[in-house]
Amino acid sequence: MALLLLLHIALFSALCSADDPYVFYDFKVSYITVSPLGVPQQVIAINGAFPGPVLNATTNYNVVVNVHNQLDENLLMTWSGIQLRRNSWQDGVRGANCPIHPKTNFTYQFQVKDQIGSFFYFPSLNFQRASGGFGAIVINNRKIISIPFAEPDGDFVVLIGDWYTKNHTALRATLDSGEELGMPDGVLINGKGPYRYNSTLVPDAIEYETIHVHPGKTYRFRVHNVGISTSLNFRIEGHNLLLVETEGLTMDQNATKDYYIVASARYVNESVWRRVTGVAVLHYSNSKGPATGPLPVPLSDVYNQWSAMNQPRAIRQNTTASGARPNPQGSFHYGSINVTETYVIRSLPPVRINGKLRATLNGISFVNPDTPIRLADLHHVKGAYKLDFPHKPHDTTPKMDRSIINATYRGFVEVILQNNDTKIQSFHMDGYAFYVVGMDFGLWTESSRSSYNKWDAISRSTTEVYPGGWTAVLISLDNVGVWNFRVENLDRWYLGQETYMRIVNPEENGKTELAPPDNVLYCGALKSLQKESLSSSAMALHCGNSKPLLTLIITILNQIKKIHTLQCLTMAVSQAVYAIVMQMFLVAGLCLSQDDPMTPGQGPTVSAAALACTTVCSGRLSSPPGSSGSQVSLATNHTYSAAAASASPMVNPIVPVASRPNIMGLGVGRSNAGRLKTHDLLAVAVIMALVLCFL
Ligand SMILES: *[C@@H]1O[C@H](CO)[C@@H](O)[C@H](O)[C@H]1NC(C)=O
Ligand SMILES: *[C@@H]1O[C@H](CO)[C@@H](O)[C@H](O)[C@H]1NC(C)=O
Ligand SMILES: *[C@@H]1O[C@H](CO)[C@@H](O)[C@H](O)[C@H]1NC(C)=O
Ligand SMILES: *[C@@H]1O[C@H](CO)[C@@H](O)[C@H](O)[C@H]1NC(C)=O
Ligand SMILES: *[C@@H]1O[C@H](CO)[C@@H](O)[C@H](O)[C@H]1NC(C)=O
Ligand SMILES: *[C@@H]1O[C@H](CO)[C@@H](O)[C@H](O)[C@H]1NC(C)=O
Ligand SMILES: *[C@@H]1O[C@H](CO)[C@@H](O)[C@H](O)[C@H]1NC(C)=O
Ligand SMILES: *[C@@H]1O[C@H](CO)[C@@H](O)[C@H](O)[C@H]1NC(C)=O
Ligand SMILES: *[C@@H]1O[C@H](CO)[C@@H](O)[C@H](O)[C@H]1NC(C)=O
Ligand SMILES: *[C@@H]1O[C@H](CO)[C@@H](O)[C@H](O)[C@H]1NC(C)=O
Ligand SMILES: *[C@@H]1O[C@H](CO)[C@@H](O)[C@H](O)[C@H]1NC(C)=O
Repeated sequence: MALLLLLHIALFSALCSADDPYVFYDFKVSYITVSPLGVPQQVIAINGAFPGPVLNATTNYNVVVNVHNQLDENLLMTWSGIQLRRNSWQDGVRGANCPIHPKTNFTYQFQVKDQIGSFFYFPSLNFQRASGGFGAIVINNRKIISIPFAEPDGDFVVLIGDWYTKNHTALRATLDSGEELGMPDGVLINGKGPYRYNSTLVPDAIEYETIHVHPGKTYRFRVHNVGISTSLNFRIEGHNLLLVETEGLTMDQNATKDYYIVASARYVNESVWRRVTGVAVLHYSNSKGPATGPLPVPLSDVYNQWSAMNQPRAIRQNTTASGARPNPQGSFHYGSINVTETYVIRSLPPVRINGKLRATLNGISFVNPDTPIRLADLHHVKGAYKLDFPHKPHDTTPKMDRSIINATYRGFVEVILQNNDTKIQSFHMDGYAFYVVGMDFGLWTESSRSSYNKWDAISRSTTEVYPGGWTAVLISLDNVGVWNFRVENLDRWYLGQETYMRIVNPEENGKTELAPPDNVLYCGALKSLQKESLSSSAMALHCGNSKPLLTLIITILNQIKKIHTLQCLTMAVSQAVYAIVMQMFLVAGLCLSQDDPMTPGQGPTVSAAALACTTVCSGRLSSPPGSSGSQVSLATNHTYSAAAASASPMVNPIVPVASRPNIMGLGVGRSNAGRLKTHDLLAVAVIMALVLCFL
């Protein structure tokens, strides 16, 4: 046992293990002209494509992306929801990196450690996401842990988002002049405008998205909201929707025609916002004609925010199911870990500061440091930032500042997000997933803690905060670095609603934070360190020289893992079969996770996400006794009217079936062992399944 522990330490302290493969991408980021809404405009393309290509990797792969900036302004690419363990050097946000100047390139390199699911990348500077530059990230499960249901026959990425015919520089100018953006001009689905479902509302000759399917097959949809700030409803005409966490979508349909796929704004007056509707087409190979008639009606939630809030609150882990679950500070009982610090972060509507329109969190409208925070630390640059972000809102004059949070390594912090703005907001944290333990309307007080879910909350990197309400999250600060904490609504983010958490290990020995990469860019106070020619420096791959002994150890360990995994898998599959029989449909994901290198001694853990009443295998190799399983949550019999919240604007809960009883769906939220966090209902992406059709 002790030997095993030692081997684990040996394995996990290696920078990256020799057998983790690499994937390489070249991203040429440039402008192209397209007319998604019938008006020609310059959008940001990657390798000539809008949206950009799918970044396809598998759990634990090393991802290398050489980003070439062919725009006329600075660029940084961020990987939303990817945890970048120990490696905030690759986060692609201005507090962590120097910008990539026009006509230069930067090679990002990171490992997608213990993650699985759907995420997306986007340019983080200068409001650029409003002009595109985004694309999906798919992290597949490893082959040794197959999913306990048939591989889908097709896999579709669906990027939805609000869209303006003004480009990002024009939108920036609007905000800079002190105005709000106003209503978007439309909603794009995979970069394309609406299908002409109504000849008055939609101009002719607009290119629309068509998704081709065959009857009786299984497909997987990965839905992301990549838009600016509009919360969207996502629905497919005539189909029941089954929301799953990981995968699975069956279509068993004798198609009579094509069907509408609709993404429309929520929490708004539909008749006023009619133009803000994305319409694509689901085309069956046996379809007998085009989609016609009015669009399927959304569920109206404009006056029913209470019921909307009940959805995210209903998404829980199933703690009685066996299997591994997240393990902050060596305990999965996150509810019994003592909170070490509390931050109450209040968001207010924009105000004028020094004559400029700005938005604040706790009275601070964030200004990015000239020198990235950890780089400033490393080179002892003084005054690059201030560690004085207030713990609570005070009624002081709002100001622009470089205040960040002095967070304590291995602390367990409680953050209360109080939304005093008038719009629903999404908050996101890079490098982490947090437990969403509470959510309510009104003002948070100490006594609100009594309503916390201390038992089966789900873990995610993005959460919604309703206007006039609060959301409480708990974060276990085990990932060293400097991590962006922001409002995802792009306009508010641009106006200053962000900060950073700086987390340093006082006993840093090179194991809890990686050194900056060899190609690190310098700027600000460190500008003189920047080499002239960017394209000459060699790429730094950290894994070239793994020692033979280490390789042997890794091989042995992998064998042990495989045997264990096999038993576990067998169990999972038999349980899955049981679940299918019992439940009619099963939604399950299965994944293997190794705990964090920083908490050695926790062996690989296997967990599965399944539908209600489905247990999962527990497969811990060397975990402490007493730890039980992770699991799933769900909201059955709900329509997934929602979608895709993504790490971006909005977040959409599942709305109960009321008006359309023929649409039925199921939601499953999952939280996983170790660092393995899939996307979940509200976070980065949603995968959706359509079950039978009852036309
Ligand atoms: C954005 O739009 C403005 C005015 O509409 C135009 O002057 C500018 O060239 C455009 N910029 C890009 C990058 O397309
Ligand atoms: C992603 O990569 C896997 C192998 O790593 C491959 O099987 C799969 O087809 C790829 N998917 C896409 C969309 O390229
Ligand atoms: C720019 O690209 C070249 C390869 O084309 C690569 O060798 C170099 O490391 C890249 N520059 C940076 C700063 O990553
Ligand atoms: C198209 O939209 C217009 C304007 O909203 C509406 O008056 C008309 O009835 C719609 N046409 C059809 C065929 O639905
Ligand atoms: C589809 O059509 C076939 C033959 O017409 C029929 O046997 C089957 O039951 C139909 N399936 C559905 C779901 O309606
Ligand atoms: C939506 O807006 C229209 C047009 O302004 C108005 O007539 C209608 O009453 C509004 N509907 C609701 C539910 O407020
Ligand atoms: C939490 O704090 C209480 C009292 O402050 C203490 O008794 C308890 O041992 C602490 N629990 C842990 C897990 O540290
Ligand atoms: C930051 O927090 C640490 C304790 O975690 C403390 O020692 C340090 O003084 C703080 N720094 C500032 C500037 O407040
Ligand atoms: C914002 O706060 C003020 C005072 O605390 C309160 O009157 C107002 O209703 C709040 N607005 C929202 C949208 O929360
Ligand atoms: C949680 O899992 C247990 C054990 O499999 C099961 O009995 C229970 O019904 C599940 N609870 C929910 C809410 O799915
Ligand atoms: C789903 O809802 C329908 C109608 O509200 C109801 O008849 C059915 O029993 C429900 N199914 C489940 C599994 O709760």
